[in-house]
Amino acid sequence: MAIASSKLGALVFVAVLCLSLPTGCLSSQQAALFVFGDSLFDPGNNHHINTTADFQANFWPYGQSYFSLPTGRFSDGRLIPDFIAEYASLPLIPAYLEPNNDFTHGVNFASGGAGALIESHAGLKNLGDTKSKQLLSNAVYLFSCGGNDYQSPFYPYTREQYVDLVIRNMTKVIKAIYEKGGREFGVLTAPLIGCWPGIRIRQPGNTCNTEIDELTRLHNQALAKRLEHLEKKLEGFMYAKFDISTAISNRMKSPSKYGFKEGERACCGSGPFGGIYSCGGMRGIKEFELCENATEYLFFDCFHPNELASRQFAEMFWDGDSMVTQPYNMKSLFEGKPSTNFLPNDEL
Ligand SMILES: *[C@@H]1O[C@H](CO)[C@@H](O)[C@H](O)[C@H]1NC(C)=O
Ligand SMILES: *[C@@H]1O[C@H](CO)[C@@H](O)[C@H](O)[C@H]1NC(C)=O
Ligand SMILES: *[C@@H]1O[C@H](CO)[C@@H](O)[C@H](O)[C@H]1NC(C)=O
Repeated sequence: MAIASSKLGALVFVAVLCLSLPTGCLSSQQAALFVFGDSLFDPGNNHHINTTADFQANFWPYGQSYFSLPTGRFSDGRLIPDFIAEYASLPLIPAYLEPNNDFTHGVNFASGGAGALIESHAGLKNLGDTKSKQLLSNAVYLFSCGGNDYQSPFYPYTREQYVDLVIRNMTKVIKAIYEKGGREFGVLTAPLIGCWPGIRIRQPGNTCNTEIDELTRLHNQALAKRLEHLEKKLEGFMYAKFDISTAISNRMKSPSKYGFKEGERACCGSGPFGGIYSCGGMRGIKEFELCENATEYLFFDCFHPNELASRQFAEMFWDGDSMVTQPYNMKSLFEGKPSTNFLPNDEL
């Protein structure tokens, strides 16, 4: 999992930064949204990191369907957290590394691929502050992780041991946030990427990689168990788990049922299934193909769904029934928020 403990330091740092703003973070009664994860959620943090183009999407045609400029999002348009913020009546949640951003409604730490965010422990000592406590305890925390962990070899571990390590890492982050007052968590299952164009192209005969999917299924089972366990163990802990893996697999199988023309081939890229990660021509391969209408392709590039898919996923995550999002959905996490006025007035 690409969530490093340094991000938690950054989270704390942000909370303190926030308190130094003239209006503080408490001017609104809305819950803030903090986002952690991989490229499915990255709004452009990697754009500000010195990494290779493999981990960047800050060039055309990324962003072409919605933003007038590439933003660093690995999509033709918006991502799941962008829609969740919209449904929660929040502005777009800014990338943590974006200069001069406004953190009053939350911040997005997600980072595509393996890029680790800058380390910052500043502000740790101020954590006892009631205001930062209130900001953090009133926020909703969004996680997408797992996808990247199962692309690389996991030896010398057994599958079960490796999955356990990934889940343990995520639990550590969740528990640390809980200790700082966080109570409400939105979590995605890991998508079954074995048949995604970018994985198939590495396989003999461009077949699906069943090993990755097997590992991912184990991950999703362990994730479900761990979240149930945390709910029992941590008082007040609430979560919304969205089964994005099934949602994506359904769309790959029957694209037209969901408004797509193409469920297997990427809109942008080259080679069989558009599976060569050349979209934009910046990753060492200059030539690439771009479909005419990105909305029709479930996959924008060989590793990332398009904006329409992200919108559909966000809708299910927001107010889907318990077949797709459970035990709560994001809407009930936001609506179930206690009033921010739980502290005595003189402490505010
Ligand atoms: C777990 O987290 C540690 C520390 O951040 C990291 O070095 C390790 O690679 C992670 N392991 C997995 C399986 O994600
Ligand atoms: C970015 O990374 C490369 C390779 O590690 C290095 O040569 C270069 O100096 C770095 N650039 C900056 C601005 O840090
Ligand atoms: C692209 O496809 C979508 C879905 O089929 C359609 O609604 C839209 O009008 C198309 N856009 C263009 C520019 O053709």
